Formats: sequence, structure tokens, C-alpha cells
Amino acid sequence: MGVCVTKASPAQAAAPTPLDRVIPAPASVAPGGAPYRITRGTHIRVDGSREARRVAEYLADLLRPSTGYRLPITTYGQGGIRLRLADGDFGAEGYRLSSTPRALTISAGTPAGLFHGVQTLRQLLPAAVEKDTVQPGPWPVAGGTVEDSPRYGWRGAMLDVSRHFFTVDQVKRYIDQLALYKINKLHLHLSDDQGWRIAIDSWPRLATYGGSTEVGGGPGGFYTKADYKEIVRYAASRYLEVVPEIDMPGHTNAALASYAELNCDGVAPPLYTGTEVGFSSLCVGKEITYDFVDDVVRELAALTPGRYLHIGGDEAHSTSHEDYVKFMDRVQPVVAKYGKTVVGWHQLTGATPAKGALAQYWGLDRTSAEEKARVVKAAQGGTGVILSPADRVYLDMKYTEQTPLGLSWAGYVEVRRSYDWDPGAYLPGLPAGAVRGVEAPMWSETLENSEHIEYMAFPRLPGVAELGWSAAGSRDWERYKVRLAAQAERWDALGVEWYRSPQVPWGVAGQ
Ligand code: ACM
Repeated sequence: MGVCVTKASPAQAAAPTPLDRVIPAPASVAPGGAPYRITRGTHIRVDGSREARRVAEYLADLLRPSTGYRLPITTYGQGGIRLRLADGDFGAEGYRLSSTPRALTISAGTPAGLFHGVQTLRQLLPAAVEKDTVQPGPWPVAGGTVEDSPRYGWRGAMLDVSRHFFTVDQVKRYIDQLALYKINKLHLHLSDDQGWRIAIDSWPRLATYGGSTEVGGGPGGFYTKADYKEIVRYAASRYLEVVPEIDMPGHTNAALASYAELNCDGVAPPLYTGTEVGFSSLCVGKEITYDFVDDVVRELAALTPGRYLHIGGDEAHSTSHEDYVKFMDRVQPVVAKYGKTVVGWHQLTGATPAKGALAQYWGLDRTSAEEKARVVKAAQGGTGVILSPADRVYLDMKYTEQTPLGLSWAGYVEVRRSYDWDPGAYLPGLPAGAVRGVEAPMWSETLENSEHIEYMAFPRLPGVAELGWSAAGSRDWERYKVRLAAQAERWDALGVEWYRSPQVPWGVAGQ
């Protein structure tokens, strides 16, 4: 006798994903009516605008491999998937998605809003849509309406490309993962003690020598200007703004090793491949330091269409307080001179933040009341705050003692801990409106490739994205963990590595 093997029936697999099973949680969902279905005959319809067509092309590229359908982009006809730039109360990034048997319509006031609506559509389709070979379908989208817009304008992820270098393709892969969760800022930590990763024509050895190694002594690398522009272009095509960081006056050994004249004693230190911090400083008393800063900021600003330039400012333990303040007083106007807004790690609030500057808070629960108070005081004076508390959203922190990758100086950060806090209430006394959003940094002392990045980002990154996008009142771990569990099938279809946290009911949702 043969053994009868039972498989899940196609009908079971075809039940559409409920409209509210999306990350980040949408602002409002009104389910109702029969589903829309993508079929062989579906057109993607756009109005005349080039921007809507660009988003439509992105959507078609996403859907064609797995559906096997042509999905032509047209400006005529009825029904189909319709992407519409429209007047309305959508805000800079909001959208409305409406699904009926006749049509699936995404409306927004901006291309970014359309793009975010497309990410919602993507998550409402079966996870197999993410595969790069033809799948049987069907491709239903539950009936009803989603109306959505973000809580914060800054929903960031940082990648440290200095401690270990990541190629343009590796960065693009991460950008695609960030876009799925409506992250809109890619902060690139381009310089540190272990490596300088961006070509600067007026100081060429920064990259060619300062970029020639990394933690552990590997070959390192750097982005040519063309490489960097390609990252910026690719990020923009996913509606992410690149925020480049040159960390100073500390975390500068790679620069100091490349040019002896930047050192107070005129002697270049050796390249550094360890993981200590706080031992390097630009020479605050030397004029050439400011020529260097001006050249670097000018060239980097010229390459960067985004509004921001991050100047680091953390862990300057080898710079006296007086020098630190002096340095920041001279460097912040240089950023403004080249048309950018200063972002700095929150130690910048120990100096005098420039008007309009943003401080990125990376403290912990145990950070002193004094240090927190400095940030609050700066915020009361107009400095915006981006929240990246290390014991919540540093994606390089180990999940548990057993996590093979990552660090643990800020503690272990399991999935619930990274999700279950409110950015709006995190630092008591911060004025309403001072919080610009959240950002999840990924430091790379222990991370060497995309698999490593993904294992640390998933499943925590979607939670940080939700804290940045969704209303405070929608935060509910018990519900969130079920939505999160449903994402795993999508990560598998995408070939994304992830950590199987015991806090999440994997395999329960989505069946
Ligand atoms: C930092 O983690 N040193 C910003």
C-alpha cells in the first residue's frame, strides 16, 4: 500500500491576507466586499505623470517574475491596478488603497505615498509573490480600504560600512528590505577608526589607504563617487534619502593614518583593525583640520541630494570638552555653508547644536539623568531628536546570550524589547514635536556579509519601522507578534536570513 500524502489545498492557500495584517500597522482599515484578483489580463494603469509610471514600473518588476503575467503599464482602460497621484489629504507620504473585484486603486498626493501604498499591496498578496520564479497563484487582495500615513517623517536605518565594508550590491539588498517596511532614511556610517569608505578627490589617500582594511584585517574597500551616486540613486528609487556620516572629531584613526599632517604631533598612526573606541581625535588646534573638514563636507554634500549631513560627534574621549565645543562651533557652519542640515549623535548637545540641527539619541535606560537632561534641554531650545536607544534598537545587539553574532554592551535585545516602547514618551520632558522619528543602527564590528546583516535585522527591523510609522495607540505586542509571524514566509520567499525568536508564534499566523 502506498502512503497518501496530503498537501494544503489551493483554496486554503488562496484565502486573502486580512487588510490589517501589514507591518507597519496602517492608520485605518475598513475591510469589506469581495477581493480583487491580479490575473493574466491585469493592466497597471497610471495617469500621465512620469513619477506614477516609475512607481508602476517598480510594481510590475516586483510582480512579473512570480506571477508570470505581462502586466503592461497603460494610461487607458478600466479596472486593473491603478496608481493615482491626486489632490487630497494624504500628507507627504500617505496613501489610500482600495480593493474591489473591479479594481485595486492606490491614491496618494506624492510618488512616495504611492510607493508606500505599493508596499502595502505587496504585503497583502501571498508571500509567494516575492519569489523569482513563476508561482501558481492565485493572487487575491482582500476587499476594502486602507487609509494610511506615518506618525514620523524620520524612519531610518543606519549601516556601518566602516568596521566591515559592504559592496554596493549588499547595500542595495538592504535598501530593498528597508523599503518593504516603509523606512525612508538610509544613514551610511562612512568613516571610523577602521576604515574610510568614500572617495574624496582633494584627499585621495583617505579612501585608497584609509579604506584599505577593516576589523579583523580584511581588505576593506571604499565607494568611488560613481558607486556612492549609484547607492543614492537606488535609494531614491525606493524613496529613501541617504544621510551620509563622517564621524568626527573622534573615530578618525583611518583619516589620521592616511595624512600625518592631520595629527597634532605630525606622526601618522598605523591603520587599526581592532574594535576599541575613543582613542582617536582630529587635531582641534590645527588650521589644516578645518581645511580637511571643509573639503570633505564640500565634496560629500555635492554628491548628496538629501538634506542632511551627519557629523558623528560620539565617543570623543580623546578630545577635551573645551576642544570638542570649539570643534563643533567651527564645523557645524561648514555643513550649513554647503547647504546641509547637521545631524550628530546626541553628544552634540554637550556643545552648542546649530539652529535646526538634529541630535540622534543612542543612550540606554541606565544613561545618566544628566546626559538625558542635556538632550531634553537642547530639544527645548529647538534641536530635533531622532531616537535610537541602544538597548532597544541597536540591531547589532545580540538577541540573547546564545546569539552567535553581535555585541552585548547595551544588553541583550529580544524582539519584544525592541518593539515595546513609545518613541513619543521615551525621554521624559521632551517637548511634543521635538521627536522627529526613530532609527535602527547596525554597527558592523562582527558583521561581514548580507546574511549577518539580515540575521540581526530580522525580525527586529519591522518593529522599529512600525514604531516610526504607526500611531502610538496601535502598539500592542500581543497583536503585533502575530502580524510579525506572518512575515516569515515572505522573508523565506525573498531568501532573507532571520532569527527564529521564541517570543513570536511562527507558523501560527497566515495559515
Ligand atoms: C555610537 O554607538 N557610538 C553612536
